[in-house]
Order: sequence, then C-alpha cells, then structure tokens
Amino acid sequence: MTNDSHKTSSIYGCKLITLDKHHHKNGNLSVVENNNQLPFAINRVYYLYDVPGGVERGGHSHHLCHEFIIAASGSFDIEIDDGKNKCKMTLNRSNCGLLVPPGIWRVLNNFASGSVCLVIASDCYSEYDYVRDYTEFQQLTSNKSCK
Ligand code: TYD
Repeated sequence: MTNDSHKTSSIYGCKLITLDKHHHKNGNLSVVENNNQLPFAINRVYYLYDVPGGVERGGHSHHLCHEFIIAASGSFDIEIDDGKNKCKMTLNRSNCGLLVPPGIWRVLNNFASGSVCLVIASDCYSEYDYVRDYTEFQQLTSNKSCK
C-alpha cells in the first residue's frame, strides 16, 4: 500500500462533527447520509460493544480509510496521534463524533460500561489498509512537514 497519508496527516485535520438531533419526547434521532454530514461516501459501518472495563481498542492507523467515530451510547476516550502531535478527548454524546482521516494513529480506552462505539468508514474492510505496529507508524510519519 503506497500513499502519502502518513506524511501529510495532522491531528488538526481531525474534526468534531455535531449531527443534528431530531428531538422527540419518545427519544431523539440523528442521521448520517452518504456525502452529506461527512466528507466521504460511506462504505462500511461497524460498532464496538460489550467492551470490558480497562481495555484498549484501536491501536492502529489507516493508509486510505477515513472514519467517523461516535459514542452512540455511553462514553470512551480517544487519543489521536499524527506522529508529531497527540491529543486526547472524551466522546460522550450520541450526536457528536470525531472525523479521523487516514494517517492518524488512534487508541480508544476508558469505555464506560455498556458503551457502544459506532464507526462509519469510507472504505470496506481491508487488513492491507492498516498500520498496526507503532514503530512502523513512527517510521511512516517521520520527517513530516505538518505543524
Ligand atoms: P480490530 O481492527 O482489531 O478492532 P479495533 O481496532 O477496533 O480494536 O478488529 C477486530 C477484528 O475484527 C479483527 O479480526 C478484524 C475484524 N474486523 C473485520 O472483519 N471487519 C471490520 O470492518 C473490522 C473493523 C474488523
């Protein structure tokens, strides 16, 4: 897999996106449609659930895949890392998620019991798109030009 996402990625390209909330006395509703709320076409949706306390998920970056990560229920922390800068935040709103472009290392932890992490992705699953080794990630992001 060759592209330069790890050389050009920046945590400042990660964006919190708040989805409209359709309030209803019987429960709220938020929508994500293709090429509307997110800057990519949706090819995959997956979700993490029954996450035991104290574990870490993620621990990888992608070459090509963009992801929108949302705490559909509960809360968890997410740390993003572009090889130069890192930032940690808590996701805890069902209508506010983090857009993570390719080339960004992400680690999710501190899951509250019963949390559901919903991920909307630009690409279908391919193990070739993953960098799962942090040393390799550091090599790919070395000498990058971003701030
Ligand atoms: P993994 O990427 O390790 O999960 P996370 O990064 O969120 O901790 O995925 C766990 C397993 O699920 C692994 O065997 C790959 C598989 N998987 C799929 O088959 N399709 C998918 O879309 C994803 C995200 C994972």
